[in-house]
Amino acid sequence: MAVEILIAESAIRDRVVELGRRIESDYAGKPLTIVAVLTGSLIVLADLVRRIGIPHRIALLQASSYRGATTTSTMLVVNESFAPDVSGRDVLLLDDILDTGQTLAALVQHVADRGARSVRTAVLLRKIGRQTTPIEPDYCGFTIPDAFVVGYGLDYNDDYRHLPYVGILKD
Ligand code: IMP
Ligand code: MG
Repeated sequence: MAVEILIAESAIRDRVVELGRRIESDYAGKPLTIVAVLTGSLIVLADLVRRIGIPHRIALLQASSYRGATTTSTMLVVNESFAPDVSGRDVLLLDDILDTGQTLAALVQHVADRGARSVRTAVLLRKIGRQTTPIEPDYCGFTIPDAFVVGYGLDYNDDYRHLPYVGILKD
């Protein structure tokens, strides 16, 4: 399938630098733990943390959503074998993309329930017109149109994550 470039590598790099600077000043002197949601946020995680010049921890979280057989609602299951110790930490949850908002909203609750001192959210991308669960990301890289995107960590059936840019998948 063809991929049409939506956000070039250089634009992502510049934006990640800006986000890193903001996070750095917002969390100066605080016990920051960045909790990245597997697998899509791995690439932005690696680039972002190298732009945050204050001490901080990195943790990973794995969550899968299942569509109920009899209902339209989805259920989020968090893999506890990855569960980071966040008690007393200022947590910044990092995900690749905010689509309906269900994943991030559920994970905010999950991390808060485990004793985090504060929980905020960061996303590389936010799709317009798709949100069903009200959640306002504290840090957002880019707002994008309602199209299926891949690259820079985002996948289609686990392919395309390695692309250095974000592109729209054309069928
Ligand atoms: P939400 O719970 O609907 O906000 O879903 C967010 C998750 O759906 C992300 O972490 C992605 O894994 C996936 N997702 C949503 N839109 C896209 C897309 O355009 N490309 C790739 N993955 C997507
Ligand atoms: Mg994902």
